[in-house]
Amino acid sequence: MNALLQPAPRRPIRELPDELISQIAAGEVVERPASVVRELVDNALDAGGREVTVKLVAGGVRSILVEDDGQGIPSDELPLALRRHATSKIASLAELEGVVTMGFRGEALAAIASVAELAIASRTEGAPHAQRLDARSGELVPAARGIGTSVEVRELFFSTPARRKFLKTDATEFAHCLDAVRRHALARPDVGFAVWHEGKLSQQWRRAAQAQRIRDVMGEEFVEQSCEVLLELGPMRITGRAGTPAAARARADQQYVYVNGRYVRDKLIAHGVRSAYEDVLHGGRQPAYVLFIEIAPDRVDVNVHPTKIEVRFRDSREVHQAVRRAVEAALAAPRAAAAAGDEAGGVAGVLLASEHLAGYSAVPAARPASFGGGSFAPSPMRPQVQGALGLQQVATLWGGGEAAPAARGASLSAVPSAPAQALDFQRDEWPLGRAIAQIGGVFVLAENQHGLVIVDMHAAHERIVYERLKASLGSAAIDSQPLLIPATFAATAQEIATAQAQADNLRTLGLDVSPLSATTLAVRSQPAALVGGDVVELARSVLAELSQYDASSVIQRAQDELLSTMACHGAVRANRQLTIDEMNALLRDMERTERSDQCNHGRPTWRQITMKELDALFWRGR
Ligand SMILES: Nc1ncnc2c1ncn2[C@@H]1O[C@H](COP(=O)(O)OP(=O)(O)O)[C@@H](O)[C@H]1O
Ligand SMILES: [Mg+2]
Repeated sequence: MNALLQPAPRRPIRELPDELISQIAAGEVVERPASVVRELVDNALDAGGREVTVKLVAGGVRSILVEDDGQGIPSDELPLALRRHATSKIASLAELEGVVTMGFRGEALAAIASVAELAIASRTEGAPHAQRLDARSGELVPAARGIGTSVEVRELFFSTPARRKFLKTDATEFAHCLDAVRRHALARPDVGFAVWHEGKLSQQWRRAAQAQRIRDVMGEEFVEQSCEVLLELGPMRITGRAGTPAAARARADQQYVYVNGRYVRDKLIAHGVRSAYEDVLHGGRQPAYVLFIEIAPDRVDVNVHPTKIEVRFRDSREVHQAVRRAVEAALAAPRAAAAAGDEAGGVAGVLLASEHLAGYSAVPAARPASFGGGSFAPSPMRPQVQGALGLQQVATLWGGGEAAPAARGASLSAVPSAPAQALDFQRDEWPLGRAIAQIGGVFVLAENQHGLVIVDMHAAHERIVYERLKASLGSAAIDSQPLLIPATFAATAQEIATAQAQADNLRTLGLDVSPLSATTLAVRSQPAALVGGDVVELARSVLAELSQYDASSVIQRAQDELLSTMACHGAVRANRQLTIDEMNALLRDMERTERSDQCNHGRPTWRQITMKELDALFWRGR
């Protein structure tokens, strides 16, 4: 028999030495240099620091220095700061419920000191000078520095070589450290941050307003390709920015979520965001977003994870739903409409958000969807078109608010070309411009103030039909069909409880699921559109979702999926000749339809080619 499988001879139970306890406990908090940076910056912020400087050597493995200008630590408390479970931030369990500081367990400094060399120098207001404490020797000596605190950490894991082996290259560790500071920087625009590596200033974020800080940290491109999020709902407020579906990425590397200023990775929130993108995002693409969730501190438990990166909500459905709605509303404002006015886009998003919450659909009263035929009835619009382009027919059409007889032209039925200087577009001109032609039976070309607009007519119409169907369906139930013989299956206690509690929601989804015994559920009817599928499998997955997420999002998703199939069949097919009027009607519909920038499968419905890009194509102005 293998000697390794033999149990070792029993040894008596003994208490571990303190040193070893600390080292084991440190494993929970300190994984790599970035964890140290995170904890030290947490402390600097808790102390009210306004300028935080992080200096690293060899990716932080050799040394980490974090300096702040916060309130400092009185010299007689310095030794306590390094003791395990010693904290100035909470004094009772009751205070933990309302905790607003980053730290509260009093274990970070002790943990770091047990796996690295640590020294802390601090000076409070009124103190004649700073005092420096060396954790190893316990020596306290006067030091020179202004009010605030410096913590120096050297040779991380020097005494635990096994853990040191898990560290990556200096460059990688440095990148993680930088990321740790970035996470803080996004949440605290009121604090200036500087990160040095190997004696060189690597990154600096000056104090700024929130919008500017997001720009500084996430970059111009992110801001341009994202929509403002703003939603207040009950005890919650959600702000930030959500990237457009078109700007989604292959990796989930630009997803920042904060709960009361604390960076978290929360599956529930991620799922809420994801479901907001569901019918606009292609497959495995990852949206970029920065979301700040503010919620009454007693509705969230921050003490559930060693590094506090996970939290638990008192009412997780409430949070899931709010997150989904907030992002949905931000994405819903058609960017086509936003393109016209400078900052108008953001405001439109906010208004839409509030309309949404009132249960009011922002989509204009739905006309019967034009299944198969794809007849675009022109909608009355502002009679403001100047006849300058020689587009008389269009001008009369829109001005009169009545459809001119549709003149079916050749597929390249264009308008008489106008000299460039005649393009005197007004500021509140139609964002997607005027239709000029259709090519390849697929694309509609239009001209707006920026240049050329190309529209994929099937994709665009599909979205419009879809949104209309959605608006008209509202919260009506999905058609249901009874099963001749109920399908039964062995269910868990959780599934049975959910089936009972959510009977109404299940019916809205076209499902009738009820207990047959203490361990069996019976499905008696299923959604008509899904007849023929595995009904037990369907019931199980719906029950699982209903037990985890808020019902309205599950229902919404199920409806979206059905509608999406219907819309695809209802939308105008490629290769149908459209008249200029029909094309214009399509453009106007797009401008007014939520989420019209993508089709239901997440593909873009239109693209802008600017005059500058057109010039570049022809090397003009070189
Ligand atoms: N940068 C700092 N400025 C002022 N006080 C600090 C700083 N860092 C640590 N302290 C003090 O040391 C204590 C212990 O810090 P720490 O081990 O991180 O635990 P916690 O942050 O959970 O309280 C803190 O409660 C605080 O009083
Ligand atoms: Mg701390």
